[in-house]
Amino acid sequence: MNTAADHASPLAPEWLAVPADLNALQEPMWASGVGKNDAGEITVEGLSVSELKERFGTPLFVMSESDFRSRARAFKDAFDAAFADICGGVDVYYAGKSFLCTAVASWVAEEGLRLDTCSGGELAVAARAGIEGSNLGLHGNNKSDAEINRALDMSLGRIVVDSIDELERVAKIASSRGEVAKVMLRLTPGVHAHTHEFIATAHEDQKFGLSMAEDSTEEAGLSAAEEAVAAATSYASIELLGLHCHIGSQIFEPDGFAVAAEKLLGFLAAMQAKYSIVMPELDLGGGYGIAYTPVDTPRPPAEIAEAMAAVVRSKCAELGITPPRISIEPGRAIVGSTTFTLYEVGTLKTVRVDAPESEDGQKNVTYPRRYVSVDGGMSDNARPVLYDADYSAILASRDSDATPQLSRVVGKHCESGDIVVRDVYLPADVAAGDLLAVPGTGAYCWALSSNYNYLARPGVVAVRDGAARLIVRGETEEDLLNRDMGVANV
Ligand code: LLP
Repeated sequence: MNTAADHASPLAPEWLAVPADLNALQEPMWASGVGKNDAGEITVEGLSVSELKERFGTPLFVMSESDFRSRARAFKDAFDAAFADICGGVDVYYAGKSFLCTAVASWVAEEGLRLDTCSGGELAVAARAGIEGSNLGLHGNNKSDAEINRALDMSLGRIVVDSIDELERVAKIASSRGEVAKVMLRLTPGVHAHTHEFIATAHEDQKFGLSMAEDSTEEAGLSAAEEAVAAATSYASIELLGLHCHIGSQIFEPDGFAVAAEKLLGFLAAMQAKYSIVMPELDLGGGYGIAYTPVDTPRPPAEIAEAMAAVVRSKCAELGITPPRISIEPGRAIVGSTTFTLYEVGTLKTVRVDAPESEDGQKNVTYPRRYVSVDGGMSDNARPVLYDADYSAILASRDSDATPQLSRVVGKHCESGDIVVRDVYLPADVAAGDLLAVPGTGAYCWALSSNYNYLARPGVVAVRDGAARLIVRGETEEDLLNRDMGVANV
């Protein structure tokens, strides 16, 4: 009898195993409520992908509203519980940049979370969803005067200031309006984390934030971060709420968050003592990782929350300060796994590829790689192209008994780098008209989508209690032509 391993291709990356059952939904990439029906079709709360395709077409982002709500609540509950004795709980700001529309903004508010925005456009969505200004934060390294004014118009709970330059601008604008802006300062603690590792460096060479390195200004011993604290306390139009940092994305281990928290608390204590001020808030940013493939191992929110709480508790005790109110800004970890993208398969072809160099003595041997083209691509998921991100895929419209074949799922764009899933085992009989589902596409896929090659951006469907509704409609050709001013105007 053939085993799964007999079908392993030498062209596959080391981490990719042949699934024992190609028809099974592999944990932990899928939203709760996603399953399979008797016909072998993927379903979301009982709705089959063929019904969804029939109603909404493909490509389509299929989001589970129930899963979104429970992941949002899970973060809030886990962090509230872990920090209850430290600062009475945690304010969780959903990072809207990962995916935002008015429906999602309203779920966020209903589940007791706040919303982190980073542009006037995201503020407009928040306003349309009726989110109170006090529950909103505004980020960005280059906020326009219009965006700062809009934040003040909406009485925002916090503007996260990114530079000395911007601090001056916010102070000036608030002062001219006779108002006081609530401000946090974004610091770069020199801690960078990615997936399993973090690195700590003294210096920062990036566009975001105020450096904590002591030689980061021309004045000896003064960091840009301290310069900003001193300046903030001198403006009557600024209320300095506290400090902020964001150390990276797709982070699995809590160590990096813990080191950043320690650094920021030490600095907060020093500044409070030196300038006789109290900074009541500390935001530790987002970046919690999710599973894109079966080998990714994200931690449950409670585990991360407890690790972070332990550090905050002991560091505050060591410094002898009252713990600030902690906030966090998860985006991907709330929305990423709630969604899969549904595509229809079109063209198929198989190429022969030379054996990898590692195969000793296997010169002149070639292996097959099958290209499976789908009806979307880098316009609805730019992450493989931008970040070399790995994804997974499964045949969604039926079960198959065919053997596993190493496949590369590609889009329909005029670009050879237009890859959706670089390496995945799919059944050998996948054919035009089949539907494929790519899980984990809730974060930074629709958000980064484009109209490259004049493709219409897909719609987003939310499923709740077995019913599907469009929360963002797909674009039409008319939408695409709408902004083109036409020949008469040239
Ligand atoms: N807070 C701040 C200040 C951020 O800059 C970010 C992400 C977040 C929170 C949310 O991070 P999350 O929890 O979603 O990882 N496009 C990239 C990710 C860019 C993240 C930018 N900032 C990607 O697709 O991997």
